[in-house]
Order: sequence, then structure tokens, then C-alpha cells
Amino acid sequence: MEALLICKSTHHGNTAKLADAIAKELGATVVTPEEVDAASLGGFDLVGFGSGIYFGRPHAALRHLVAGLRAVPRRSFLFSTSGLPVFSTWWHRGVRRALQQRGSEIVGEFGCRGWDTVGPLWLIGGINRRHPDERDLQHAREFARSLAARVRSAADET
Ligand SMILES: Cc1cc2nc3c(=O)[nH]c(=O)nc-3n(C[C@H](O)[C@H](O)[C@H](O)COP(=O)(O)O)c2cc1C
Repeated sequence: MEALLICKSTHHGNTAKLADAIAKELGATVVTPEEVDAASLGGFDLVGFGSGIYFGRPHAALRHLVAGLRAVPRRSFLFSTSGLPVFSTWWHRGVRRALQQRGSEIVGEFGCRGWDTVGPLWLIGGINRRHPDERDLQHAREFARSLAARVRSAADET
């Protein structure tokens, strides 16, 4: 299975940790939205789009990449770290919709806590300190394994 992860992680490198854990499990490479060859995405079995959440949305570089895609991967997944991951599916909504409208199937979404020192939170050392932690990364690896199983069984059926 050919997989790729596109990740933008600018605050504390939180989402980069998540991307590395998922990529290792999938045998995939991680690139930034600036590095990726957008025209090549249609050639992957699975592409993950991820970033931290900034003011309720994934990073602008990721959103702009997705909005400008001509060839979308057949299957995609979304991942993020945020201060309030209970709202992950809400944070992902714009990118999810843009991919689905172009015909990519969203096969999974993953969100977990990320160390957040934005604004006044900095004064108290932030929230979610030490996250993503080993437990978060273990959940991310399990998520990756379930994605791989899902994509492989879909491929067997076709
Ligand atoms: C400018 C800024 C805005 C943020 N806005 C939100 C937000 O709207 N909701 C939220 O849950 N977390 C928010 N966060 C917290 C980040 O999503 C969180 O720290 C995330 O783990 C950062 O990922 P990164 O280290 O990969 O950049 C914000 C952080 C920053 C720096």
C-alpha cells in the first residue's frame, strides 16, 4: 500500500509527532504542504492530511493545498492535535468537505490533545502539557493499523 502524510505543525511540533507515529505504522513518508507534489496525490492508495488547529481550523497551508487540488487521492484520512480535541470532527469539517466534494473517500479521522500555550495560556505553562504523550501515540498507531486493514480489505474486494 502506497501511503503519504501531509502535515503542517507550527506551534510545538505536536502534530509532527503524531504524523511520525502514523507514518511509521503505514510505512509512509511525511511531507509538508509546501513540499508535496500535488499532481502526484492521485497515485497514492491513501493520503493523510493533518495539522494543529489554529482558530478553529487546520493550518492555512493545508487548507489552501486541499482547495487547489486537481487530482485527489482515492482515499484520505484526517488527523490533528488541538487544545480541545473533543471537537476534532468539527475542526476538520472544511478540509473533509473539500476532499469529499472532489471525490476522495474519507476513511478515518484522528484527533488528540496537543500542548497549547496560545495567548494567556502561556502564563500558566499551557494546557495539555506533555501531549501528545506515549498513550496518544499508541492510539494513533492503532488508528493507523485499522486504516491499513480497511484499505487492504477494500482493495481485495475490487
Ligand atoms: C494561534 C493558535 C490558535 C489556536 N487555536 C485553537 C483552537 O481554535 N482550538 C483548539 O482546540 N486549539 C487551538 N490551538 C491549540 C493548538 O491546536 C495545539 O496546541 C496544537 O497541538 C498545535 O499543534 P502543532 O504543535 O502541531 O502546531 C491554537 C494554537 C495556536 C498557536
